[in-house]
Amino acid sequence: MKHQTVAVLLLIVVSALVSPHLVIGVKRPRCTVEDKNNVLAHCGHYTIRGHPKEIPPKHSSCCKAAEGHDMQCIVDLLNVTERKNHDQRAIIDLETACN
Ligand SMILES: *[C@@H]1O[C@H](CO)[C@@H](O)[C@H](O)[C@H]1NC(C)=O
Repeated sequence: MKHQTVAVLLLIVVSALVSPHLVIGVKRPRCTVEDKNNVLAHCGHYTIRGHPKEIPPKHSSCCKAAEGHDMQCIVDLLNVTERKNHDQRAIIDLETACN
């Protein structure tokens, strides 16, 4: 086999082995009530209903709290009161705002 062919085959094998781990590693699929409370504590003023929409700065404590978390997972943990007080769309949007 040519060197190039071997290199391409190796690359495919390595990618296949590595990528499932990458997907899990980049975005933690699970979140805890603690994570949710942390996000609300630091991002609450960005997500509360009826407030003018503000985008948190990338280096804010809010983005630090949101970092690495699946915001849909955070939203799923909101209780009735929090659901009523916070704009779920705004929480989901933190993911893009902070990236
Ligand atoms: C929702 O969670 C908040 C923060 O933990 C708490 O203060 C509030 O009492 C809870 N509300 C309900 C209905 O469980």
